Parts: sequence; C-alpha cells; structure tokens
Amino acid sequence: MTPKRQKVAVLLKEEPGREVLAKGWVRTKRGNKNVAFIALNDGSTINNIQIVCDPSKFSEDLLKDITTGACIGVTGDLVASQGSGQAVEIQAREIELYGTADPEKYPLQKKGHSMEFLREIAHLRPRTNTFGAVLRIRHAMAFAIHKFFNEKGFYYLHTPLITASDAEGAGAMFQVTTLDLKNPPLTEDGKVDYSQDFFGRHTNLTVSGQLEGELGATALGEIYTFGPTFRAENSNTPRHLAEFWMVEPEMAFYEIKDNMDLAEEFIKYLVKYALDHCMDDLQFLNNMFDRELVSRLESVIATEFVRLPYTEGVDILVKSGVKFEYPVSWGVDLQSEHERYLVEKHFGRPVILTDYPKDIKAFYMKQNDDGRTVRAMDVLFPKIGEIIGGSQREESFEKLQARIDELKMDMSCLWWYLDTRRFGSCPHSGFGLGFERLLLFVTGMQNIRDVIPFPRTPKTAEF
Ligand code: 4AD
Ligand code: MG
Repeated sequence: MTPKRQKVAVLLKEEPGREVLAKGWVRTKRGNKNVAFIALNDGSTINNIQIVCDPSKFSEDLLKDITTGACIGVTGDLVASQGSGQAVEIQAREIELYGTADPEKYPLQKKGHSMEFLREIAHLRPRTNTFGAVLRIRHAMAFAIHKFFNEKGFYYLHTPLITASDAEGAGAMFQVTTLDLKNPPLTEDGKVDYSQDFFGRHTNLTVSGQLEGELGATALGEIYTFGPTFRAENSNTPRHLAEFWMVEPEMAFYEIKDNMDLAEEFIKYLVKYALDHCMDDLQFLNNMFDRELVSRLESVIATEFVRLPYTEGVDILVKSGVKFEYPVSWGVDLQSEHERYLVEKHFGRPVILTDYPKDIKAFYMKQNDDGRTVRAMDVLFPKIGEIIGGSQREESFEKLQARIDELKMDMSCLWWYLDTRRFGSCPHSGFGLGFERLLLFVTGMQNIRDVIPFPRTPKTAEF
C-alpha cells in the first residue's frame, strides 16, 4: 500500500524508519554514476528534503527528466541522513514524474536572480526560496491580524470595494464603469451621464474602508477591516502600490492615547508572532539579504515607541541642520527622508508623531483647541517611514460640518457618514496599517513589489 502524502515540513521532523510519500518541485539534482541527490521542496517550509536514489534502480530517461523545476512524487524509506544539514532523507524506491521543466527554457534553472528579474517573472517567482519565505510570512501575518483582533473582541467588518464616495481625500481613485468609453451617454450639458452607468451613479474603487468602518464602530463598538485598497497615484517608489492591503481598526470610546496604545501593542504582537512562528524563513532572509533583520525585529518588541507632537518633530528636523531634499518647516507634510531621520538618526526607535497641522490631514480628524492642529497620529518605522496613519475622529457634528464647509467639500455622496454624528455620536478613533509596509519591515525586503504576490504599480498589471 502506498503511504499517504505528507508535507516536507512534517517529514523533516519525523523519526526515521518508515515508508513515506513526498511530492514537490525539484530544486537541484546532483550526484554521479552511483548515487543521485535530489533536493525536493513542496512549499511547506524553506527547507528541502533530500532524496537519495540509486541510479541503477531507475530508468535513465526518468533520471534525465528530473531537472530543476520538475514536479515529482517520491515513495521511499525515511532514513537518518548520512550527510550534514538534515536529520532525515528519503531513500527512493519509486519516483513518479508529474511535470518536466525543460532546462533550456525554465527561467529559474539557475540560482541567484536579481529581484528586478524576478519581478518580470512574477508568475513563477513563488517557486524561489525568497518568495516562498516572504509568502509564508505574509500568510502568518494575515492570520495573526485576525487572531489579535479576535482575542480582543473586535469584529471583522467587510467594507465595500466599490464606492460612490470620493471625499476621503486619501488619494486619487480608479473609476469603475461599464459605460462604453468610446461612446458614453451624455447629459444635456455634455457631461457623461452616470445615471446610465451600472450603479446609476459615478463609482470608484475604495481608497480606505474607514468611513464605513466608523458606521460599524458606532454600532458594534470595536471593528476592523482588512482588505485591498486602491490608489491611482503615479508614485513609483519602493513603498507605494496601486493595489495594497490595509488593516483598519475603528473603536468607539477610544481617545488618541488609547489609539496609540493599540497601534503599538498591535505591531509588537505581529512582530512577536513572526519571531515565534516564522523563524526558519526569517533566518533565511536574515542570512541572504539583511544580517540585522532578526535583531531588529527583536529590538522593536522590546522598546517603547517615542510619542511626539509634530511641532516638536519639526523643531528637531530644523535644528538638525541636515540639508534635506525637501526643505522642512512647520506646516509641511513630512517626506520619508524626514520621518526616517527622526526614527533612524535621532531616536533610534519607532516614533508616533501626533497633532499634525489640520491642513495636511483629512477632514474627519478631531480638531484640537489650538485651532490649527488635529489629533492625528502616524507611526513611523525604521527603513520604511509611515507604516500606520490614524487619528481620533471629530465627533461633534457642528465642528465637522464647519470643517467640511471650510474645505468646500461636496458631501452629496457622504450624507450617510454624517449620520454617525447626527445620531448617537461618540468619541472614537482608528487607524490604518499598510499591510505591505508591515511586511517590508518584517521580511527586511527593500521593495514593496516584493512582498505581495502580484504587484500592481503604474504600467504593470500583467500577472
Ligand atoms: O495614511 P493613510 O492614507 O490613512 C488612511 O487611509 C486612513 N483612512 C486610515 C484610517 O485611519 N483608518 O493610509 C494608511 C496606511 C499608511 O500609513 C501606509 O502604511 C499605507 O496605508 N499606505 C500604502 N501602502 C502601500 N501603497 C500605498 N500607495 C499606500 N498608501 C498608504
Ligand atoms: Mg497617511
């Protein structure tokens, strides 16, 4: 009887002495006339299982086809390994070849490709050690996010991806339409007649689930959203995607301090979860790319984040005497060079910057008594800059309405949002964590395109 297939991650921890079945993709094959060694990986772990075969027991054609990238199933005895580097290996009895990978054509035939090249073959890069590690960590972080909030009694709220409101101001939006772009219906004054569009109105992909999240928080108490968001900015940087995932908790009765406490606890929980559950993958990335990765992660969970008003942060930057590419003064929106100076050079740990000028933040943030700042908070991280953006929300209907008037915002698509302030309004707060920015930190990867399986950036959406 053939044994049941087991994952390589499981087999590598088994006691030797039993017949087993493993299936996966060949990473390498080496050997000589008397013995062949196949390194087999099935994605369940960064580690390969070594298959040892006696070439005299297999057809020459079969062995010839077992090349890097080929997919095989191996039945054999799990035995204690003679070689160093692994405790057990499989002494092959039978090998089934599922799929060949022509060495002349398989793009991952050789090791050591650049990250840029791998982006061009993003459909195959999950088969590399690096992307295997990143994608397993990505999964673990997504799972830990749900675990964290579930343990705290937050409800997972599914906010819509298609929205008619475009007033959040977080970024440029992608339009959603089924109208014929060559020949759209027009109104009498020559504008596109969106009343004839699929939803009977103009719609976009969402830039954030927050506004709907506030509806949830003012009913269920504490909620979070976790889903894709879309921004049509033409920012070709190592930290921006046009499609990225955001985690947005929103909590009734939280003031700004509670919001900061939650953000700090949340990030530390996720980093600790990675250290506790993904060490093989982290160690691999540490050895390959970033010798300080694991120690940086350990230090973040051990240090208290700095909490500092924007005004004091700008003072530090101005007094630093550093010539920044973008000059800094009170009122400017901080660039990542400024954020990184504070975090990496000045404090040497994560910083939560609060109380930003109202003119560079969204309309919904709670207004401070000074009349010029709002109760915003951005969490700034080494190597990355802003990882979280959030605030206490303005709960007063009158103050919110005054700010909307001041900004001359068209609220016709957002009348429902104001109902949270009209009926049973309450102090509340929330924030958004950029999931891929978190992954940049946790994996130590340099470019945000390399922590999402299929990156969407200006001019790239092939796979
Ligand atoms: O600071 P942002 O724009 O905040 C909001 O959207 C709020 N509605 C969140 C809230 O309070 N519920 O975005 C939040 C985070 C940023 O701190 C950053 O980590 C990430 O989302 N982010 C991006 N990540 C990748 N690519 C982009 N283009 C991003 N834009 C923002
Ligand atoms: Mg922001």
